[in-house]
Amino acid sequence: MKTARQRKHTHPFAETFNGTSVSFRMMTAEDESMVLKFANTLPEEDLIFLRMDITQPEVVSEWVRNIESGRTITIIAEEDGRMVGYASLHSSHLHWTRHIGEVRMLVNSKMRGLGVGRSMVNQIIKIAAEKKLERVIVQISSNQPRVRKMFEDLNFEPQALLTDWLKDRNNRTHDLIIMSENIED
Ligand SMILES: CC(C)(COP(=O)(O)OP(=O)(O)OC[C@H]1O[C@@H](n2cnc3c(N)ncnc32)[C@H](O)[C@@H]1OP(=O)(O)O)[C@@H](O)C(=O)NCCC(=O)NCCS
Repeated sequence: MKTARQRKHTHPFAETFNGTSVSFRMMTAEDESMVLKFANTLPEEDLIFLRMDITQPEVVSEWVRNIESGRTITIIAEEDGRMVGYASLHSSHLHWTRHIGEVRMLVNSKMRGLGVGRSMVNQIIKIAAEKKLERVIVQISSNQPRVRKMFEDLNFEPQALLTDWLKDRNNRTHDLIIMSENIED
């Protein structure tokens, strides 16, 4: 029997988590205003560890430009027609890291713990394999132990710890952990 990772994920598709149906589709340029609206309705604690400030229109515009150029692929998760999260795979613009993709993701805090995040990581790994990437990394703050555990459970391994590397929206510094997973053929 094929595992979730081996099955080809053809978006859009829906999956049920604890009785809640969530649909997954690819983000396009037409989603720009919806994504901005989603970001601006998130509570501060959901935004605090984001690498980019996605509440800013210019940041979301750049995101859309990267989608159009193919550098970024984003999966949008929706519940009952409302956006509840996303996961992106970013390809490196640097020649020497062209085999590495980075996953960045967020699930609305009201929807966490259902399995939506794990499902999207598996979808991203599948997409990374289709793009012939060799490794997927994630950058997380050291004070997110549950997030770290989720990635460890999904076979990501810690690669580096950078002290006081992050400054959150409240100007507090945190250590950065880089984790990665090798993509199998
Ligand atoms: C990381 C994140 C996307 C996971 O999404 P999710 O939909 O909660 O993921 P899952 O439901 O698959 O749960 C994964 C783990 O999260 C933890 N978790 C469960 N409920 C949670 C909650 N309410 N809040 C935070 N973490 C929770 C659990 O450890 C869970 O593992 P378990 O199922 O073995 O108990 C989400 O926590 C998030 O958006 N965090 C902020 C942004 C971030 O850190 N992104 C990752 C780096 S880019």
